[in-house]
Amino acid sequence: MSDIEALNEQLAGLQEEALKAFSGATDLAVLEQLRVAYLGKKGALTEVLKGVGKLPPEQRPVIGQQVNAVKQALATALDAMESELAVKAKAERIEAERLDVTLPGRSGPVGALHPVQQGLDEITAIFSQMGFAVAEGPEIENEFHNFDALNIPPEHPARAMHDTFFVKGLSSGENAEPMLLRTHTSPVQIRAMRRFLEEGHEPPLAVVAPGRVYRCDYDVTHSPMFHQVEVFKVDHDVSMAHLKGVLKHFLSTYFEREVDIRLRPHYFPFTEPSAEVDIGCVFCARKGCRICKGSGWIEVLGSGMIHPNVLRSVGIDSSIFSGFAFGLGVERLVMLKQGIPDLRLFFENDVRFLRRMGS
Ligand code: DAH
Repeated sequence: MSDIEALNEQLAGLQEEALKAFSGATDLAVLEQLRVAYLGKKGALTEVLKGVGKLPPEQRPVIGQQVNAVKQALATALDAMESELAVKAKAERIEAERLDVTLPGRSGPVGALHPVQQGLDEITAIFSQMGFAVAEGPEIENEFHNFDALNIPPEHPARAMHDTFFVKGLSSGENAEPMLLRTHTSPVQIRAMRRFLEEGHEPPLAVVAPGRVYRCDYDVTHSPMFHQVEVFKVDHDVSMAHLKGVLKHFLSTYFEREVDIRLRPHYFPFTEPSAEVDIGCVFCARKGCRICKGSGWIEVLGSGMIHPNVLRSVGIDSSIFSGFAFGLGVERLVMLKQGIPDLRLFFENDVRFLRRMGS
């Protein structure tokens, strides 16, 4: 075999071997190594070229063309393989980095309403559903709304019993009027009835008034700030029977069971007759336990028929209209429903307690 034939054969073999190696490359790094091995300065093709020097000069251009053709073929094959591997690498990366957009995100801790607020909302909603309109009044009140209009005149012993916080400096000058933090939500009765009449309406009027109240009192069972819900209705011929029916429905709905109720005669200046309302003990089913002090009954609220003087103070004719009213302590009802042993838990804001009551 002549030198040129041998070189040609060598070139053909090299091309075949290189193309095979290229097509077997599994990634871009391997392909780069192969490019260096075949086409690099010290690569296989350079090695073959060394033999060209041995050929007679007239044959050199022929073999030169062959070498260029092989170089061209290898370069083309490399390019093709390179883009193929690049596409493959990208596909693999996309696969590896794939995000499941349907996975739920990690959520942070979610807060919850304070148990007293939950109780207020729950109680208010029960009355809303019965058709009572929600009303609110100011927490800083005057003596007229908190006492006088509710048939508690100055010097009345009930004023002393209310442990009132008076607010200094809120009104000054000639018409300075003593202001106070309302001691109960009953003043909203006065405000709501007045507003209602001013708007030109006539009874029936049915209102639920939730809110904060204040008394200068602090011990295991008293907090200087607590919450009440006031409920009242004024219409023709409203009777104690209506009061009792509304109470029974409300308390059974709130405690999520049929509760027994009992009205005990009592005294409130703004109602006549007045009654304290007990429910059959929710802890012992009236058998008698520590919570109900063996009596089987637990006192939950104060109530009565709105005193004619109260209706008169807003200009409602008590010979035509009558009404019932009651006021309840929200903390007390939440404690009874949730089995919370100590009032102070509501105000200490221990997160362990709040989390437990959160849902
Ligand atoms: N206002 C009273 C209190 O805070 C509760 C109360 C008793 C409200 C009888 C009423 C009622 O409407 O009729 O002690």
